[in-house]
Amino acid sequence: MAKGKTTVFFCSSCGYESSKWMGQCPSCRSWNTLVEETVNKRSASGGKTGSGAGAHSPGSLPMKLSGITLEDEDKLDTHMPELNRVLGGGIVRGSLVLVGGDPGIGKSTLLLQVCRQLTEDDISVLYISGEESLKQIKMRAQRLGEFGDSLSLLCETDLGIIEDTITKQKPAVVVIDSIQTMFSEEVSSAPGSVSQVREATGILLRLAKSLSVTIFIVGHVTKEGTVAGPRVLEHMVDTVLYFEGDRHASYRILRGVKNRFGSTNEIGVFEMRNEGLIEVGNPSEYMLNGRPGGASGSVVVCAMEGTRPLLIELQALVCRTSFGIPRRQTTGADLNRVNLLMAVLEKRVGLKLGECDAYVNVAGGMKLNEPAVDLGIVLAIVSSFKNIVIPQDVAAFGEVGLSGEVRSVSMAKERVREAYKLGFGTCILPKSVSGQMSGIDGNVKLVFVDSVKEALDCL
Ligand code: TYD
Ligand code: MG
Repeated sequence: MAKGKTTVFFCSSCGYESSKWMGQCPSCRSWNTLVEETVNKRSASGGKTGSGAGAHSPGSLPMKLSGITLEDEDKLDTHMPELNRVLGGGIVRGSLVLVGGDPGIGKSTLLLQVCRQLTEDDISVLYISGEESLKQIKMRAQRLGEFGDSLSLLCETDLGIIEDTITKQKPAVVVIDSIQTMFSEEVSSAPGSVSQVREATGILLRLAKSLSVTIFIVGHVTKEGTVAGPRVLEHMVDTVLYFEGDRHASYRILRGVKNRFGSTNEIGVFEMRNEGLIEVGNPSEYMLNGRPGGASGSVVVCAMEGTRPLLIELQALVCRTSFGIPRRQTTGADLNRVNLLMAVLEKRVGLKLGECDAYVNVAGGMKLNEPAVDLGIVLAIVSSFKNIVIPQDVAAFGEVGLSGEVRSVSMAKERVREAYKLGFGTCILPKSVSGQMSGIDGNVKLVFVDSVKEALDCL
C-alpha cells in the first residue's frame, strides 16, 4: 500500500468514514458531525486498525474448544458490590472496560477508588493520567483514604511510552484517564479525533489480550461532537459502562450497556460525598427519602433495573389549562406514553382530561421507560385530577393497554418482595400474575386488578 497522508472524513458521533464531506451522516443520520482528519495510510489505513487487531497474533492456529483450559478465570474482587454487580461479578482478567460519562460526573474518582480497593489485596495497578498532574491525583487520593503500596501513577499521553511501560511492568490492572488525551505517532490527527481514539483503543486492546492485563478506559461523552465520543469504540471493547446522574443530585448511576462477561442493564448506585463515592446498597429507600405525606398525585411504582427492583415515587400534577392547547410535560417518564395513557383514561374511564395540563415527574431524577410503570402514571394522574390522596403505603405496577386493561409484567414477585421489604402494606398489580405469588408473606395486601377502572376503584 502506498505510504503518505490522505484526508478522510469521520462522523464524530458514530465513527462513519467517508472520502468526501457530507452534511448528514448516512449511518447515524446526525447533521454536521463529519470532521476532516488526515490519516497515515501506513498505520491506520483509514483508522480501522483497532477493530479486531487485538484478537490475532502472527502465528495463531485454530484450537479445539475442548483443548482450551481456563486457568485463573477467577475475577478480581473490587470489594465494591455495586461495581461488581455491573461488571458481572468482578474484574475479568485481560478485559477492556470503557467507562463513559459527562465530564465531572466522577469517572476519575470511581476508578481511583477501584485502584484503592485493589491495592488492599496487593494487586499491582498502574494509573495513567493524561489530564491531571501527579500532585492533583495525590490530592484526590488523600480525600479517598489510605492506599496500599501497589499503585503506581504515570502522567503520559504518548501511547508508545505507555505500551512500553505496561509491557515492562506487567501490572494486573491499568487505568487510562482519558482516551481522548492519548495519541499515537502513527496517526497524524489531533488527540481526541476519531482516528486517534480508535488507534489508541486498538493498541490497548492488543495489549490487554496479549498480556492479560485488564484495562479501564475513561471516555468523556460530549454533546457538541467536537471530541470523538466513546460511542465509536463501543464495538471494540468488552464492557461498556456509563456513569450517569443529575449534576444537581448527589447520586450517580453506573449502568452496564454492553458486557461480554455478564448481563447488561444492571445498575450500581453511588452517592458522591466529600470523601468520594459511597455505595448505596438500598436504592429504593434512598429514592423514597423526603416523600411528601398527604399530597395528591403521588404514588410509588415498582420498576426494575436489570434484575433489581426499585421503588420510586411518581408525581403528577393535573390542572385546567389556561390556553387553547393543553400542555403536557414529563421529567423522567416517556411523554408519548403519558399522552397515550391520558387518552386511555379519557376514552375508557370517561375523565375529561382534554382541557387539562399535565405534568409528570419521576422523583429523584431517575428515568423510567418500562411499561410496568403505566399503572403508576395512571394512578398519579387520576389522584391529582380528582384530588384524592393515595395512602403512603401503596405501591403499584402493571402495563396498561389501549382498551384500559392491566397486563402482566415480568418479575412480578421480585417487585412485590421489594415493596414488602420496605414496609409497604398494599400492592396494586395485574390479575394475570396472581399465580406467581406463592411464598409471599401475608403481611402485604395484594390487590389484583384486571382493568384501569378496577384499579381506580381502590383509591
Ligand atoms: P471527577 O472524578 O474528576 O470527574 P470526571 O473524571 O468524570 O471528569 O469528579 C469530579 C467531581 O467530583 C467534582 O465536581 C468534585 C467531586 N468530588 C467529590 O464530591 N468528592 C470527592 O471525594 C471527589 C474526589 C470529587
Ligand atoms: Mg477525570
